[in-house]
Amino acid sequence: MNIKVSDNVKNDNAEVLVISKFEGEKTSQEIANIYAVEKDGFEGKFGQTYLLHTFGKIPADKILIIGLGKKDKVDRNTIREACAKAVKKLVQIKAKNASFDFADFSEYAKQAVIGVLTADYAYDKYKSQKVHHLEEITFGGFSENDVNEGLIFAEAMKYTRDLANTPAQIAVPSLLAQTAKNIEGIETKIYDKDEIEKMNMGAFLAVGQGSVHPPKFIHMKYTVRNAKKKIAIIGKGICFDSGGLDLKPPSSMLTMKDDMSGAACVLGVMQALAKLKPDVEVHGIIAACENMPSGSSYKPGDILTAKNGKTIEVDNTDAEGRLTLADALCYACELGVDEVIDIATLTGACVVALGSVASGIMGNDDDMIARVIKSADEAGEKFWQLPMFKEYFDSLKSDIADMKNTGARGGGASAAGLFLQEFVKGVKWCHIDIAGTAYIEKPQKEFIAGATGAGVRTILNYLTK
Ligand code: BES
Ligand code: MN
Ligand code: ZN
Repeated sequence: MNIKVSDNVKNDNAEVLVISKFEGEKTSQEIANIYAVEKDGFEGKFGQTYLLHTFGKIPADKILIIGLGKKDKVDRNTIREACAKAVKKLVQIKAKNASFDFADFSEYAKQAVIGVLTADYAYDKYKSQKVHHLEEITFGGFSENDVNEGLIFAEAMKYTRDLANTPAQIAVPSLLAQTAKNIEGIETKIYDKDEIEKMNMGAFLAVGQGSVHPPKFIHMKYTVRNAKKKIAIIGKGICFDSGGLDLKPPSSMLTMKDDMSGAACVLGVMQALAKLKPDVEVHGIIAACENMPSGSSYKPGDILTAKNGKTIEVDNTDAEGRLTLADALCYACELGVDEVIDIATLTGACVVALGSVASGIMGNDDDMIARVIKSADEAGEKFWQLPMFKEYFDSLKSDIADMKNTGARGGGASAAGLFLQEFVKGVKWCHIDIAGTAYIEKPQKEFIAGATGAGVRTILNYLTK
C-alpha cells in the first residue's frame, strides 16, 4: 500500500473520506452530522463505524466515520486502533483508496501509519484467492517525516510477521542465515556447525543435534561512525520446537513454527536500522536450530557445557530456548557492548501470567528495564516486569552439574530469566519473553491471527530515540 500526505484531504477526489467523531461532539462534515448523527443517532463510541454516501455533496464518494470515544481519553493507542478499525472496514467494502482527515491527531501520525499498515496485513502467500488490499491512503496534515518513520516501523513489523508466519518446512536455520545475509547495509557473519563447535557452544549444539537441518549461528552488525552506545540484540531462533525427546502434545506443538519469533524480530529490526541510521552500534545475534526428536537428539540427563564453561544438566529437552540463548548471551557479552537485549518465545509460564496482552520483561538493571518499558509504552506495546528473586533459582539446582535447565512449574518465567542471567557478564541486560504475544490464535485488535511482530516497534524505538 502507498501512503501519501496532503494539505487538503477534505477536497480530495478519494473513494472514501475517513473522518472521526468523539462522543457528544460533532464531526467535521455537515452531511455526516445530519445523516449519521442527527438522523441515525451515531454516537461515536470507540471503534464504532458509520458509512454514508455523499451523493456529490463533497468530492469523495463516501464518508466513513470512525468513533473515537471520549475526547479526554484519546491517546496514541486509540488513534492507532481507530485507524486500524477504519482500514478493516475499508477492506471489507473493497475500497481502493481513502483519505484520512486526521490532521487534529498529527502528534500521533506515526502510530496512525502503523495502525493502517498493521490492519492491512494479510498472510496469503499460499492462498489461491488473494486478500483485498487498499492501494493508497492519504493523510491530511501529517508531516512527511513522521509518516516515513511510521512506514519504516510498519514495514519492519510486516517483515517480521512474514518470517514468523512462514511454515517450519521452509523457515529452517539456513533460510534465516540467508535472510540475514540479504539485508543491505548490514555486515553479516554466519558460523556453520564446525565453527560453532570451535566456539564451544555446547548448549546450543545439543539442542540442534537431533535435526537434519544443521544449526547456524548468525551475527549481524550495524555500524555508524562515533556510535554513542553499543548494543546487542539476541533473538531466540528455534525454527521448530517439537519439544525434542520430551515431545510436546499435538495441541502445544501446533504453533511451534513461531518459536523463531525472537529471531524474526531481530531480523526485522536490523533491516530497518539500515534505513533509520541511528547513532548506535547494533549487533543482531541468532542461534538458529530445530528442536527435534531422533536417534541423535540430546537426552534428559545429558550434561552440557556452555561457552562460558558452566555445566547444565538437561532436565527437560523442551526447555531448549534458554540453552541456545545461554551460548548466544556468552557470545554477545564478549563483544564489548554496553547493553544486551534478548527476545524470546521462552516460557508457557509467561503465557499463563500475562496472556497475549503483555510481554514479560526482566533483567539485571532496573534503570534499563524502565527505559525499555517506556519505549514499549511509546511504541504502543505492553511490557510488564516480572521478578528475579533469587529464590526462583532454587529449583534449578543440580546435584551433578552447575544447574539444571528446568525446575518447578510455578514461577517458570522468572526461573528461566535467572537461568539466562548465569550467562550474562559485565553488561546491562534485559530479557523479553514474548511467548504469549508473538503469535495469536484469534484476531485481536489491529492484528489478524498468527504472527504479530511483537517487540519490533519497541526495540526500534529504544534504538532510535
Ligand atoms: N517455546 C516454548 C515456550 C512457548 C510456549 C512459546 C507456548 C509459545 C507458546 C519453550 O521452548 C518451552 O517449551 N518451554 C517449556 C519449558 C518447560 C519444559 C520448563 C514450557 O514453558 O512449557
Ligand atoms: Mn520448548
Ligand atoms: Zn521453545
